[in-house]
Amino acid sequence: MKIGALTGGGDCPGLNAVIRAVVRTNANRGGTTIGFLEGWRGLVENNSVELTAEGTDDIIARGGTILGSSRTNPFKDDAGIGKVLETIQSSGVDALIAIGGDDTLGVAHRLNSEHGINTIGIPKTIDNDLSSTDVTFGFDTSINVVMEAVDRLRTTAESHRRVMVIETMGRHAGWITCFSGVSTAADYFLIPEEKPDLDYMCQLLKRRRQNGKMYGIVIVSEGVELPSADGFVTQDAELDEFGHVKLGGVGEIVAELIERRTGIETRVVTLGHLQRGGAPSAYDRVLGTRLGVHAARLAHEGRFGQMVSLRGTQITSVALGDAVGEMRTLEPEFMEEAREFFT
Ligand code: F6P
Repeated sequence: MKIGALTGGGDCPGLNAVIRAVVRTNANRGGTTIGFLEGWRGLVENNSVELTAEGTDDIIARGGTILGSSRTNPFKDDAGIGKVLETIQSSGVDALIAIGGDDTLGVAHRLNSEHGINTIGIPKTIDNDLSSTDVTFGFDTSINVVMEAVDRLRTTAESHRRVMVIETMGRHAGWITCFSGVSTAADYFLIPEEKPDLDYMCQLLKRRRQNGKMYGIVIVSEGVELPSADGFVTQDAELDEFGHVKLGGVGEIVAELIERRTGIETRVVTLGHLQRGGAPSAYDRVLGTRLGVHAARLAHEGRFGQMVSLRGTQITSVALGDAVGEMRTLEPEFMEEAREFFT
């Protein structure tokens, strides 16, 4: 069997562990693997490299993706998808394994359901916002990056008696913010799933100061909608090929507001792409490896149109059609528990 693999959308730590596992599992069954470069663009432009078990054996510790990534949407026009179909034919791949988030997997689903292509999906994103899987790899590394950054910011915040506002990624889901907020004992955090109560936040920061805690830590999701900001705060008016806005900048507004309302000197740090960079955690390496092994096995069993998924401790699979199109926002109980500390 010849498998073509690709990584699409925002990169995340653990992608190389998946690639290594797909290549090895396929090789163990006599198969060969090629990697299409830069997501779906690699199929539009027929750009691929050969992947061998030997050549990919030590990539597990590397962040990013050796295949490169992009947010190319081949369904944006008929020409794009025509080229993808031509590449699949000319390269002789029997199965396509797409490693990506909702957009990349949505393309894999349409290729399978509308064009009969043998696709299998592997879910990834630091945002942890995909339905049909309990955890996405990349998330664990990302929250540890935020945790380490906040631990460092705490010492300088304390020295200068400041409030430090940290803006996190995660699009419209508060997973990164909530998990990093709980793990760093942040004074308050704002997530996209809830209407921000800015009055309460400012009162809390003032009360804590009066009670002797002379600094504050506030974590803000990039996707929080502020009543004063008239919708999401975005970097510019540009949309990506899948129609998503580029979020970013809400932390600045929250910091200004805190300083104005509380009189406490406040600084902001936007962690941005640091959250996606660097070596994957052990958890993400193992989860990525397991998903890659199971995706290649599915291909050899001829079970296409599926996405591998983590349920509890087991790797299972779900129909791609059921897995895409629905965002998994932060489960409310995590915030209910966190609120015990917002007093
Ligand atoms: O989906 C992953 C993610 O990192 C989001 O958290 C963030 O909003 C977005 O990608 C940033 O995308 P880009 O790398 O295109 O700026």
